[in-house]
Amino acid sequence: MNIITKAACRTFQTVLRLAIPILPYRSPKVLSQVRDIPGVLKEKGISHVLVVTDGFLHISGMLEPLKKALAENGIRCTVYDETVPNPTVWNVEIARERYISEGCQGLIGFGGGSAIDCAKAVGARVARPRTTIPQMRGILKVVKRIPFLIAVPTTAGTGSETTLATVITDDKNDHKFPVNDFPLIPRVAVLDPEMTRSLPPHLTATTGMDALTHAIEAYIGGSTTRDTREDALTAAKLISVNLEKAYRDGNDMEARGNMLRAAFLAGRAFSKSYVGYCHAVAHSLGGKYHIPHGLANAVLLPYVLEAYGPAIYRKAKDIAIAMGIADASTPEKTAAEDLIAQIRAMNRAMGIPTKLSGIRTEDIPQLSAFAAREANPLYPVPVLMDAGELRRFYYDVMEEQV
Ligand SMILES: NC(=O)c1ccc[n+]([C@@H]2O[C@H](COP(=O)([O-])OP(=O)(O)OC[C@H]3O[C@@H](n4cnc5c(N)ncnc54)[C@H](O)[C@@H]3O)[C@@H](O)[C@H]2O)c1
Ligand SMILES: [Fe+2]
Repeated sequence: MNIITKAACRTFQTVLRLAIPILPYRSPKVLSQVRDIPGVLKEKGISHVLVVTDGFLHISGMLEPLKKALAENGIRCTVYDETVPNPTVWNVEIARERYISEGCQGLIGFGGGSAIDCAKAVGARVARPRTTIPQMRGILKVVKRIPFLIAVPTTAGTGSETTLATVITDDKNDHKFPVNDFPLIPRVAVLDPEMTRSLPPHLTATTGMDALTHAIEAYIGGSTTRDTREDALTAAKLISVNLEKAYRDGNDMEARGNMLRAAFLAGRAFSKSYVGYCHAVAHSLGGKYHIPHGLANAVLLPYVLEAYGPAIYRKAKDIAIAMGIADASTPEKTAAEDLIAQIRAMNRAMGIPTKLSGIRTEDIPQLSAFAAREANPLYPVPVLMDAGELRRFYYDVMEEQV
């Protein structure tokens, strides 16, 4: 990236960093059980909700405890269950029509990040009927208060239940992009480990690595606060202790609960301190090839950290110490190398590959342009890169074409 663009990016990031104390960040109220949801809705005078979820979760019966609790309390629920992984503008529009035609008064996002993000975007469209989701791309474009939103995560990864982001794919051009604004922070997050019990090992692994990526990208960026540093390091520690346990034994409810907590903390950290190029590249791959978000991040993370080089050594050492793989006496460079090696070892231990299939060489210029457009100037990354420089990551992770 040329020096003038670099200076412009850093100036933009400094302005946002200085604004942190005056921006309306908030944290959702946290509940620990689905059966506590009706009480909150009653307090708000809400008698009919739209539950946004996906087909698998609906068919598998996971919604039943929620439906039962709502019915017992006289609260009607309409279900939208067509959310796809990497949810689309089409999903959002159909769900929004349902919300309006059924006269719903509140939203429950029930599922992984895809369902919760879809619910958030429905809220944004209800609040802004004349503005499309692509027009809200970027920051601070939702502006208006959205309907009361409760998030029930069934994966321990995205942290969407506490973040100000929703990530949606435009079906017209396969462009996946975040919409970031304060009204999108859910009012209530239900961190109930029972909801993640059925998550299969591979999804437990990849979604957990997404949470680790949030913690690391938030921590190594240039816009941290004491709170976000603390949240990120606590999340990294919890993940290093609990992720492989939850992967090996899905019924280990202590590990499941700790992973939900970690995903929440990492989400809270990156809401204020942003993510980085790993996410920008992962989003471009999710939009174009539907590569699952956690998988893309897990595979990309070691390559992106390596590319940052000495710029992350000092902070990588803090993370390595939090994860128990370095101590105060470890040289910074060694700690950074050990952190990257540890991420690779975690991936290997949980069957996550080192490459991603399906990436086509001819798509790379467009994908890297999407990634650069998402990240620059917003993400306060340790080393700035333009679209041309970001291309390397697609080559790093693509399987050899024969
Ligand atoms: N808003 C944010 O702040 C934020 C942050 C990171 C990622 N995201 C987005 O979140 C999406 C990814 O979300 P995700 O990784 O949670 O996956 P997901 O929501 O796409 O779900 C993946 C699969 O897991 C299944 N699943 C979910 N919970 C299950 C359970 N308990 N048992 C069995 N199967 C279950 C789903 O049915 C689905 O098939 C991406 O679109 C990503 O961009 C958003
Ligand atoms: Fe993520």
